[in-house]
Amino acid sequence: MIQTLILSTVIASSPMQVPKLSENNIPEVVAAMTDEEKVLLLIGGRAKTYNGIGNTAVGVPGAAGTVNGIPRLGIPSICLADGPAGLRISERREGDDRTFYCTGFPIATLLASSWNTELVGKVGEAMGNEVLEYGVDVLLAPGANIHRNPLCGRNFEYYSEDPLLSGSMAAAMVNGVESNGVGTSLKHFALNNQELNRLANDARVSQRTLREIYLKNFEIAVKASQPWTMMTSYNYINGVHAAENTDLLTRLLREEWGFEGAVMTDWGGGYDVPGIIRAGNDMIQPGSDSRYVALLEAVKDGRLSKEALDACVARVLNLIVKTPSFKGYVPSEAPDLKAHAEVCKLAAEEGIILLKNNKNTLPADISRRAALFGTASYDFIAGGTGSGDVHKAYVVNLLDGLRSAGFEMDANVISFYESYMKDEAERCAVINKGHQWFLDAERALEIVPEAVIDASAESSDIAFITFGRIFGEGKDRDLNASYLLSERERALLHEVSEAFHSKGKKVVVILNVGGLVEMESWRDEADAILLCWQPGQEGGHSVASVLSGKVNPSGHLPMTASRRYSDEPSAENFPRIVADKPVNYSYYRRLPGRKLYDVKDIDFTNYEEGIYVGYRFFCTKAKKAILYPFGYGLSYTSFSFSNMKVIPGENGWTVSVDVRNKGSVAGKDVVQIYVKAPHRKLDKPVLELKGFAKTPLLAPGESCTVSVEISRESLASFDESNSSWLLEKGKYKIIAASDALHPECSRGIRIREEETRRVENLFAADPLFL
Ligand code: BGC
Repeated sequence: MIQTLILSTVIASSPMQVPKLSENNIPEVVAAMTDEEKVLLLIGGRAKTYNGIGNTAVGVPGAAGTVNGIPRLGIPSICLADGPAGLRISERREGDDRTFYCTGFPIATLLASSWNTELVGKVGEAMGNEVLEYGVDVLLAPGANIHRNPLCGRNFEYYSEDPLLSGSMAAAMVNGVESNGVGTSLKHFALNNQELNRLANDARVSQRTLREIYLKNFEIAVKASQPWTMMTSYNYINGVHAAENTDLLTRLLREEWGFEGAVMTDWGGGYDVPGIIRAGNDMIQPGSDSRYVALLEAVKDGRLSKEALDACVARVLNLIVKTPSFKGYVPSEAPDLKAHAEVCKLAAEEGIILLKNNKNTLPADISRRAALFGTASYDFIAGGTGSGDVHKAYVVNLLDGLRSAGFEMDANVISFYESYMKDEAERCAVINKGHQWFLDAERALEIVPEAVIDASAESSDIAFITFGRIFGEGKDRDLNASYLLSERERALLHEVSEAFHSKGKKVVVILNVGGLVEMESWRDEADAILLCWQPGQEGGHSVASVLSGKVNPSGHLPMTASRRYSDEPSAENFPRIVADKPVNYSYYRRLPGRKLYDVKDIDFTNYEEGIYVGYRFFCTKAKKAILYPFGYGLSYTSFSFSNMKVIPGENGWTVSVDVRNKGSVAGKDVVQIYVKAPHRKLDKPVLELKGFAKTPLLAPGESCTVSVEISRESLASFDESNSSWLLEKGKYKIIAASDALHPECSRGIRIREEETRRVENLFAADPLFL
């Protein structure tokens, strides 16, 4: 009905001669548009074409949404699709025998663990090629939010607890994807750090914390990559919804940082429809009748100015003229999935982290027999759930990966699991019937295979045990069920360790997880621990390469592993999920009789830890609580750092270090540059990451010189008392380190005069919400 109304309005108001959109006539096209057309352009693909969260039924099936086309003005519809680990579209199309699988790349957290921006750029290039060749215009990725708390359900879609690492990774991904002539959407701007009550939770954060941590990641990415679009988050920030936030979208993003692209809401995010546009948020996704009407009414009765409307329309048109759809690109619908699988495999190999390796347990000799335990070994987890999932053609499980690497596998253990997994698949199928696709599904329960453990300890030379965790959008992790190992998992580790250790044989634990699990209480039972994250569809191959030593691990933690959850700086200010309640993102809002904004950690979350997030907290205030520090990762070789130089330049310093491979196998290392700043006026963490670089593969005995640029600006801290970036005078220690706790060499520099750079005072807390 409304659709008919819109079309007739459009046709009735069409003059005979209308401009057709081109790169050079955007103002002319805006001037020729009716209010209805402008509103149609800004509210995204409408409800009629929309088939559940992020799943459109028109254009490219399974894409998340569209921007409406207006043929009268030569404006094509464009297509938007998720997401961070690869393109998410339907793998099948009605009436078509072909398949449209996409590559399931490693999760963002693994990519960050590689500390290799060049590699991430290559993953982006491959991902972007699938976007182009499947007919999509904008990939709704990458996600760059900070890992504030290990229980956040979406951490796997994000890179790190550190803004420099997150922002650099996101920029590399944007540049890689966009090198194909398609767009990205850097998301979720900003502070999507919890899923519980995500549509209504208010993040209450100081301006210093915002500017130094939760916005710095986005600032770095925006300045280094100018993504075509950005997506706002679902939450409020100091009482103002992110999607309706003029401070965030206009004053900061556009005016201060110089962002030139378009902004869109997250799917269904934001409440005040004209307020969204007024704030400088150009697209309301997805469209719906009620949003169309609300926006049109506001335009007609003057609540939304013509200037605000036209500015958004012009930005959306600017986006459209860059797209393949506008340029008439005919997608092949056949990207080179084989080549991309290879990119996926190599990327995963570089982000896998060796956490523990007692007495050179690894690499494991492939000529010896291995026994493979843990249900996840046989049902490997490539990536997380929700919009960050990918419809991939296959996942290589660890069993197949080890076999093709040449390991002889214990047949009894395999046949036990094969039969158990079959039974479990039947049980799960019943439970999973009708389950919502974007939430996690029931998986096989862990089991202690009593019948085969002792015999396998006798006949095999080494045991591999995989523990898996899958989660995602819509839910945070349950402390007991997801962060801690379950009773069954503990029992499995215990039984296998006892049996193998009694025969003088080794046990390796492989963590196939989307986020860290607690390790302190059980790590003594394992001889080696390999953190392989969710390594994408080639996972089993990548992990086997590292276990066998074909690839020397070079991943380093992009977050701190603490000893206990209660040691986390945000532990007291993050929702505690109770397993027996059906909690998800909207559960609490639906409770009858509830006022908004009255329950801590649900309606609002206080970021009391301030700038002391991750290693900034642990290294400054709680060193003893660190199990493995930020930046930590072992190798099958060892490296030395020497000849550190800090050479001043116009806007900063070039720090160089010689890295030498001291061991007997080839390997790559990561140079991490931290700065310890003086604190005269402002309190500061004892160190902050200001630069990093990965070495090329160094042969035994080989050296290379690694150079890292550090800008002067990046050494400043935010002084709320006069709303400025303050570079305090005094001595700054520049540290080259192998992780946040292990400095290798350092040099001092002196800032002689204090420097301040004033910026607008933004994000004041709304008194109504305090
Ligand atoms: C997610 C976004 C995603 C969108 C479209 C939302 O639920 O938060 O990350 O891009 O859906 O699928």
